[in-house]
Amino acid sequence: MTAVELIERKRDGGTLTGNEIRWLITEYTAGTVADYQMSAMLMAIFIHGLNGEDLTVWTEAMLTSGEVLELSDIAGCKVDKHSTGGVGDKISIPLAPMVGACGVKIPMMSGRGLGHTGGTLDKLETIPGFRTGFSADQFAILLAEHGVVLGGQSEHLVPADRKLYALRDATGTVPAIPLIASSIMSKKLAEDLDGLVLDVKFGPGAFMEEIDRARRLAETMVEIGDLRGTRVVALLTDMSQPLGREVGNASEIRESIDTLRGEGPADITELTYVLGAEMLVMGEVASSVEEGRTLLEEAVATGRAMEKFAEIVTAQGGDAQVLENPELLPTAYNTDTLEAPESGWVARCDALSIGVGAMRLGAGRERKEDNIDPAVGVTVQAKVGDHVEKGDVLAKIHWNDAYARGIATPLITSAWEISESPVEAPQLIAERIGSQR
Ligand code: URA
Repeated sequence: MTAVELIERKRDGGTLTGNEIRWLITEYTAGTVADYQMSAMLMAIFIHGLNGEDLTVWTEAMLTSGEVLELSDIAGCKVDKHSTGGVGDKISIPLAPMVGACGVKIPMMSGRGLGHTGGTLDKLETIPGFRTGFSADQFAILLAEHGVVLGGQSEHLVPADRKLYALRDATGTVPAIPLIASSIMSKKLAEDLDGLVLDVKFGPGAFMEEIDRARRLAETMVEIGDLRGTRVVALLTDMSQPLGREVGNASEIRESIDTLRGEGPADITELTYVLGAEMLVMGEVASSVEEGRTLLEEAVATGRAMEKFAEIVTAQGGDAQVLENPELLPTAYNTDTLEAPESGWVARCDALSIGVGAMRLGAGRERKEDNIDPAVGVTVQAKVGDHVEKGDVLAKIHWNDAYARGIATPLITSAWEISESPVEAPQLIAERIGSQR
């Protein structure tokens, strides 16, 4: 078998056998197949696609290119959630303890923020002492003892994805749906899951702007799960405006704490319950999403969800006092207020401008190696459909660096548009994809 033969066949619209796909990924990860050959293959996939069984084999070959978690000795169903990323998307933080408090195991591995989208690890690490880097053995012990782990991806997990993603970035092949689907699913399925709930976002602040592409991505990921026998459900959700009110790192932990207390914003609370109810059904703790939702609401009302969060924070080295006293979390030294220039209804509260603005303040990274400022960010006070009077507060900008503030403020200000006539708020959850209920 040679790489050239496989490239030529894919270039001409042919298919590769399972053995050929496994060989290609293995040899590429080992460095025997060169970057220039894999680049040609990625472009052939970009043009001709990769579907069904072939894509599942491709995903499985990526998944087994490195370390895979072994959690079968731990009793109970293991379920996780993945979001394709957005602005103000802190859902994983209240979701994991809520679902964990109801008895489903959550071996959650999250990422860091890049560009205008935030990262769960950056947010969690604003809790003093909170650790997210664990070996596979430590991860399994934490899961067995506490039922939930909020960790980072080890560099030994799916090394093929790291190499392939860098190559896609340099060859204009990032947007290929099969390549995105296999990249996401290989990393999630390496967690040895029984089920996975996907939050696939669409809109200006999302990785996939158009809903049609988001739907195709969701369907492709659900199909990979079906073909390999792992339950996968996807929700298509709106990312035209930020989720919740806080966009930042420490501030999103504060908002997550509010949500665990039952005092979070309506959109965060709703999405957490809907995703969580799917996870409880997958985890065989609830027989319907209605029952799952009731269990989650009870976990919040009785304080068990918050207790579970305190348990996780302590187990991962963090200071659980912040849950009682969120003012112990970092706060910015300065706050500016952005006021409505006229009365009317908010017609636009653009997630992308707010996300890029928050990144420029220092809440996010432009490049992987950048440091973040945990304290800065934006509090969004008026969202699409809200009525505002001239002078009402649209947002608060929390900043530490005057130069960053100068760059961020016009971007954040440009996010809002006020209309003279009433505007309807966008629908948060547009569709559900996946058979199991
Ligand atoms: N997120 C991933 O993990 N991989 C992609 O290819 C795109 C988004």
